[in-house]
Amino acid sequence: MSDHSPTVLEVRDLKVQFRIDTGGFFSHDYHTIKAVDGVNLEVRRGEILGIVGESGCGKSTLARAIMGLVSAQSGEVCWLGEDLLGLSEEAFRNKRRDIQMIFQDPSGSLDPRMTVGEIIAEPLRTFYPHMSELQVAERVRGMMQMVGLLPDQINRYPHEFSGGQCQRVGIARALVVNPKLVVCDEPVSALDVSVQAQIVNLLKDLQKKLNLSLIFIAHDLSVVRHVSDRVLVMYLGRVMEIADRDQIYLNPRHPYTQALIESVPIPDPVLERARARRLIQGDIPSPQHPPSGCVFRTRCPFAIDECAKSPPVLERTAEGSQVACIRYQELGDLAAAMASEVGDDPEAPAKDRADAH
Ligand SMILES: Nc1ncnc2c1ncn2[C@@H]1O[C@H](COP(=O)(O)OP(=O)(O)OP(=O)(O)O)[C@@H](O)[C@H]1O
Ligand code: SF4
Ligand SMILES: [Mg+2]
Repeated sequence: MSDHSPTVLEVRDLKVQFRIDTGGFFSHDYHTIKAVDGVNLEVRRGEILGIVGESGCGKSTLARAIMGLVSAQSGEVCWLGEDLLGLSEEAFRNKRRDIQMIFQDPSGSLDPRMTVGEIIAEPLRTFYPHMSELQVAERVRGMMQMVGLLPDQINRYPHEFSGGQCQRVGIARALVVNPKLVVCDEPVSALDVSVQAQIVNLLKDLQKKLNLSLIFIAHDLSVVRHVSDRVLVMYLGRVMEIADRDQIYLNPRHPYTQALIESVPIPDPVLERARARRLIQGDIPSPQHPPSGCVFRTRCPFAIDECAKSPPVLERTAEGSQVACIRYQELGDLAAAMASEVGDDPEAPAKDRADAH
């Protein structure tokens, strides 16, 4: 991917809310969860955008809203310049061929009554109903080979496969219709550690070979670092920071990103003892009652009264990243001043940290 690659997906001010019934007598007895609250992002052709954030911050809801699997309250999901949310169901379905999804639980997301051949062929039958049986079988066998499965296993059932093999089936199913964007929602977190790297590398290889755009959601910061060109950090439904992969790991600007990255232990005990860790304090607030203003303020060591007033907008930094923190500039200057006061190289801890992943 080059910096001049065209934007394929643009999400603007996307909001998804869930209504939770509190069980009261009146219809107004409910809470609202702002699972995705004004998200903006873009993905370029051939780019891998990583999305990270603690459990419940809205990563899956964002992915599902992009796929049209959950309704958005407002905002836009523009695919090649066209807003998908404004399309009729049929028009939307046709666009869906371009955007496919890989799910977290490979075994659970495959229908146990269907053979893997039928599972992989299903999207082909939806989007290419005129393909002959022979063409379908040929395409399915080709896909199985491409994802590292034996084409002879076409008539086997999901329960005969390991978790890693089931995820390969999920990948073949997503790619069989030649999509341009694949949304991967924690594609390896349900797998044994020993097979995670194989699946991540397979996805990376296929992405390169097919010049795909990927949205790669993960808990594991080192996995995101390994695969992504850019990284988006979410907290309580909002975007905290978006930056190039190296920049976000070497020079995170948002206090939440800094704390997230510092919470990853360094495998070297000497380096681990030497660094100052700023762990995130307290629990994530209930999404039913998010803090006013900056949603991170109840856990932010730098919060001031002004942070409670209104949610910070994503601002573009001099380095080209985007940060939603009203103090990011002064905090950056402060960190550099503190490091030079103790005669330290301000980059050093960050580099050690980065080398360890
Ligand atoms: N169908 C639903 N109905 C009600 N609330 C929901 C629904 N789906 C998600 N939520 C809530 O929306 C918020 C965001 O959930 P989401 O699953 O998107 O988070 P996530 O970042 O994917 O978490 P995880 O890392 O655990 O997968 C959570 O508070 C969750 O409880
Ligand atoms: S806006 Fe305030 S509370 Fe939010 S991250 Fe910045 S300093 Fe912390
Ligand atoms: Mg999720």
